[in-house]
Amino acid sequence: MSTHSIAILAGDGIGPEIMDQAIKILRLVESRNNVAFDLKPAPFGASAYFETGKSFPDETMAICDQADAILKGTIGLNHEESKKIPVDEQPERGALLPMRRRYDTYANFRPVYLPRSLAHFSPLKPEVIGEGIDLVIIRELVGGLYFGKKESGINEAGRRYVHEMLEYDEDQIRRVLEVAFELASKRKKVLHNVHKSNVLKSSVLWNDVVEEVRQDHPDIEVKHVLVDAAATYLCLDAASFDVMVMENMFGDILSDQGGGILGSLGLMPSACVGPEKSYYEPSHGSAPDIAGQGIANPYSMIGSVAMMLEMSFGMDQEARNLWQAMQSVFAAGFTTPDLARRGDSEKKISTAEFGDRVVTELEKIPAD
Ligand code: NAD
Ligand code: IPM
Ligand code: MN
Repeated sequence: MSTHSIAILAGDGIGPEIMDQAIKILRLVESRNNVAFDLKPAPFGASAYFETGKSFPDETMAICDQADAILKGTIGLNHEESKKIPVDEQPERGALLPMRRRYDTYANFRPVYLPRSLAHFSPLKPEVIGEGIDLVIIRELVGGLYFGKKESGINEAGRRYVHEMLEYDEDQIRRVLEVAFELASKRKKVLHNVHKSNVLKSSVLWNDVVEEVRQDHPDIEVKHVLVDAAATYLCLDAASFDVMVMENMFGDILSDQGGGILGSLGLMPSACVGPEKSYYEPSHGSAPDIAGQGIANPYSMIGSVAMMLEMSFGMDQEARNLWQAMQSVFAAGFTTPDLARRGDSEKKISTAEFGDRVVTELEKIPAD
């Protein structure tokens, strides 16, 4: 029997509601497999700030340091509530970015997937969505504008100013490209490199490194696309993409657009992979507009569990079973309200019922 310790950071907003579903699944996976999960809940985010004065408390850091993997819900408050926390302790700057930096989770996998049978969830017309959507965004997660030097103050003209640097070095670029090429070699052997080299010098360096790395991967076809155009093609012809790689901010924005073409951010799980430790989280935020109502879609959270089973614990088959169980819930005509469109016959269910139905479907699939 192997034991894996997992730090459980439920966070803010819908975080605790969707994390409850993830825990139900982990308990079931334990009972079906020769594995034990040692779950270590810890405060993280705005709720941690109000409890302890820090959004990433030292005790939470110690739990994360010792864990084999970290499962994170969502953090953040709405615009007005956020102002109750000093800028540097707000959970995005005070908890999430420091966690990414601490574990150097440079490769963020954000799959954007919708089978043809669920194409009605998408706002795209059937003739646009065709056979469905199946692509993966690889987002560089610990560099660029979000981690560059910042300076603000009053300039010589007496005006307020701010400088934020978009910083990368070639090693940071190379390592995330290696991940993307490797994924492309396991999929359709096509890699879309998303950049803005017509303006940004950071993209010029990025593209130089692409040319170097591709020498080691002659079987991969590299296609270059400017980030603004990529936003359009994601709407008009998502099927033209398979693996896409890009710097931090481009990936932040285009991956939310990924959620848009699927029909909801509730369909966007992710894995944040570092050299030693990885953490797993939905791509979306704490959804303050629906928090506490029991209606959030837990698919992104449960999908992040599936990614953890595969990528941190080598449980590939059980991960596939879990994806299949979630698809079976949709196939049976059930969905949380975010995906129920007017006129559709879908039966709307709660967050907890979605979790329960995934449990029931997974139980029907034999474990290894
Ligand atoms: P958001 O992703 O929280 O929500 C955007 C829209 O998507 C909302 O209408 C929301 O209801 C919907 N949505 C998101 N997840 C859903 C789900 N699982 N089920 C159903 N609907 C869902 O983005 P926002 O409102 O711009 O940000 C809210 C807070 O979340 C901010 O404080 C932001 O900084 C934070 N945030 C955190 C993370 C993270 O924890 N990794 C990611 C993004 C944003
Ligand atoms: C995401 C989020 C984060 C980011 C925020 C909350 C810091 O939007 O994970 O996509 O910008 O990376
Ligand atoms: Mn984002």
